[in-house]
Formats: sequence, structure tokens, C-alpha cells
Amino acid sequence: PVERTLVLIKPDAVRRGLVGEILGRFERKGLTIEAMVLRGMDAALADQHYAEHVDKGFYPPLKDFMTGGPLVAAVLVGDQAIEVVRTLTGATDGRKAAPGTIRGDLSLSNRENLVHASDSADSAKREITLWFPDLP
Ligand code: CMP
Repeated sequence: PVERTLVLIKPDAVRRGLVGEILGRFERKGLTIEAMVLRGMDAALADQHYAEHVDKGFYPPLKDFMTGGPLVAAVLVGDQAIEVVRTLTGATDGRKAAPGTIRGDLSLSNRENLVHASDSADSAKREITLWFPDLP
């Protein structure tokens, strides 16, 4: 089925000039960009977006990183987009992510891992509403 998913191209990717490289991989796969914006993530949005992680030890530095510079938020659409985007993104830890994935090819970090992608239909719905409240 055709699905929508939320992708964040994180501040490390913007800083490193990898936005085009990362978006290009999603586009070449056949996914469509339905909405996109370059913006910052403030502390309140970080706490909402990462609600399931706010109590974890890795959250404070994650929050500093995610609020530390502009990022690109996008809604991608396509057949089984949620799983397809997660597969293209690769495992969380860039040091362990498989070659051929975005993180496996381009990240050497467990935190600065270039991309966030919704992990389920429920989180896609929640995250799209959070980042693009005006999207029908
Ligand atoms: P993301 O897919 O955005 O979801 C949660 C983020 O927390 C994850 O990508 C990483 O950036 C970060 N993260 C997850 N686990 C760890 C960890 N063990 N140490 C540091 N950062 C982590």
C-alpha cells in the first residue's frame, strides 16, 4: 500500500553538505517528496518528537545535537514507504550499519547518524502531524 513517512535530514547532514546526496537516494528509489522544509528543531519540539526517548541517558546530548542547527524535514510517499525508507537509512549506529545504506556509507556515529525515519505507521502519523500540521 502507498504510505507516507516522515524523514529528518539531521543537522550533521546539513553541516556536511549531504542533503542532496541523501534526498537523491530517496528520489532515485522512486519515493515522492510531498512536503519539505529547512528549519530548526527547538527544545519543545525535540521533547515531543522524541517523547519515547526523553528519559534515556542518551537524550540530553541527542537533544543538543538535534537543536544545534538547521535540519530538513520531509514527508516521503510511496509503496511501503515506511519500511523502504528505514531500509535505505540502515541501522542506528553508523559504525554497524550495512554498506549501501545511508548511515552505512556516510556515518561513523551512533548519534550523528544523518537521518531520522518514522519506524511504524503510528509514529509516521504522529510525526507528520507534529512537523506538518497543515498537511491535509
Ligand atoms: P533516530 O532514528 O533519530 O532516533 C533516536 C536517535 O537517538 C537515533 O536516531 C540516534 O541519533 C540517537 N541514539 C539512539 N541510540 C543512541 C545511543 N545509544 N547513543 C547515542 N545516540 C543514540
